Amino acid sequence: MVSRVIPVDTFDLVIFGGTGDLARRKILPGLFRRFCAGQIPAGARVIGAARSAHNTDEYRQIVREAIEEFGGARADACDHLDDFLQMIEYVVIDARGDDGWKELADLMAGTDRIEAYYFSVAPALFGDIAKRLKKWGLADAGARIVVEKPFGRDLTTARALNKTLATYFNEDQIYRIDHYLGKETVQNLMAVRFGNMLFEPLWNSQYVDHIQITVAETVGVAGRGDYYDNAGAMRDMVQNHLMQLLCLIAMEPPARFSPDAVRDEKLKVIRALEPVEPHHIVRGQYQAEPGNEEQHPSYRTAVENPRSRTESFIALRIEISNWRWAGTPFYVRTGKRLAERSSEITVVFKDTPHNIFEEDAGRHRNVLSIHLQPNEGITLGVTIKEPGPGGMRLIDVPLDMTFAETLDADEIEHVDAYERLIMDVIRGNQTLFMRCDEVEAAWEWTDPIIEGWEARNDVPRPYDFGSTGPIAAHEMLRREKREWRQVTE
Ligand code: BG6
Repeated sequence: MVSRVIPVDTFDLVIFGGTGDLARRKILPGLFRRFCAGQIPAGARVIGAARSAHNTDEYRQIVREAIEEFGGARADACDHLDDFLQMIEYVVIDARGDDGWKELADLMAGTDRIEAYYFSVAPALFGDIAKRLKKWGLADAGARIVVEKPFGRDLTTARALNKTLATYFNEDQIYRIDHYLGKETVQNLMAVRFGNMLFEPLWNSQYVDHIQITVAETVGVAGRGDYYDNAGAMRDMVQNHLMQLLCLIAMEPPARFSPDAVRDEKLKVIRALEPVEPHHIVRGQYQAEPGNEEQHPSYRTAVENPRSRTESFIALRIEISNWRWAGTPFYVRTGKRLAERSSEITVVFKDTPHNIFEEDAGRHRNVLSIHLQPNEGITLGVTIKEPGPGGMRLIDVPLDMTFAETLDADEIEHVDAYERLIMDVIRGNQTLFMRCDEVEAAWEWTDPIIEGWEARNDVPRPYDFGSTGPIAAHEMLRREKREWRQVTE
């Protein structure tokens, strides 16, 4: 396997919420895979911190089981789990009281390694933990904290959270995770845009008819109904993940690939977003699978709220008011319990200004598709002559930049978003993390949209289990003589 592992300095990573779901599913298996790739230096420590009364041996067993369950093929193929477990420690800690903090401070004392604190806990605890890190002398200038979404539920709460964290840490110590930024293809999007001459001259409203961003999921919300019913697709996905994708597609080329240069450009995009008109929003709620209501209940049953007005699907037509994009709509949609799990960004170019081929009545458009998951890859649709006799008949064919075919599939090391982002924290690179002003600007745009449908008492439209969302979402595009791309793997 070819992998260029860039070494990182020795570090201590403390995971608050070390026994929780995110730690077990993503953070710990991700660290183990980096360990197997040879990136974790000898002497590094991963310290689980949580309220449950475990000793280090018991915690190591929890970590072992988590990696066996969620580590995936790369973890299964690596037989260094026992070595990795030697790096693991555990402290019982109370985020809201002082219990356990002295033990943690003692553990961290006297080392000059990088210290990172991962807040894998409910946002309500962020302030308590930050305050106690400071109180116990753990918030020195080199320390980093990592916080997860949801980062607030509106502008007011996000501002308050930023203010609290800023009381104890500088902005360059705060890593706000949006795991979409750690996905391989999302980074490749920047490489394609800013590493090629080909696209940039065409990347504007003069040549681009419209852009689509789809994040379709097959999963429902069972198991996290309480959180989700208070959030909905707009807060859960659009304000963060889809907004970040939109920024990377729409932003101006930054002067350099450095954290603030990139984030400055993203911020300008968010600030140029127009308010969204009600008829440019379609909200939906999934129905039960017919005949299988028990296993696949409706959204309202899953969240145990028969009158819920929260959306599990949303489609929006977004406009960006700047020189580059005025006149080019961005259609974004995301939903749960859809036909396929598929995330894709599509740039649909305009028609040629004049058709010189009389035999050909078709409409041919170049379409650049950036496929995020499950199969990563980039395809550019181009028009060519259909081979053989019969005149100038034109067909569209894909120029495929799918990595697995262009590069040798076995040679690519697939790095999960969390692996990449955790290593970036240790390296001190904030490029793929959200800055406070970005998060606030995103809420500033989101809030009036949500307030609008709350004021109208808007009820989401039902959509079928395993479908492509409410029919109204399709009608929204058809009114403008456009079509959503088919949701496929
Ligand atoms: C999370 C959302 O941030 O992203 C979930 O809270 C969603 O609702 C998930 O399912 C999607 O992530 P991915 O990486 O599976 O596309």
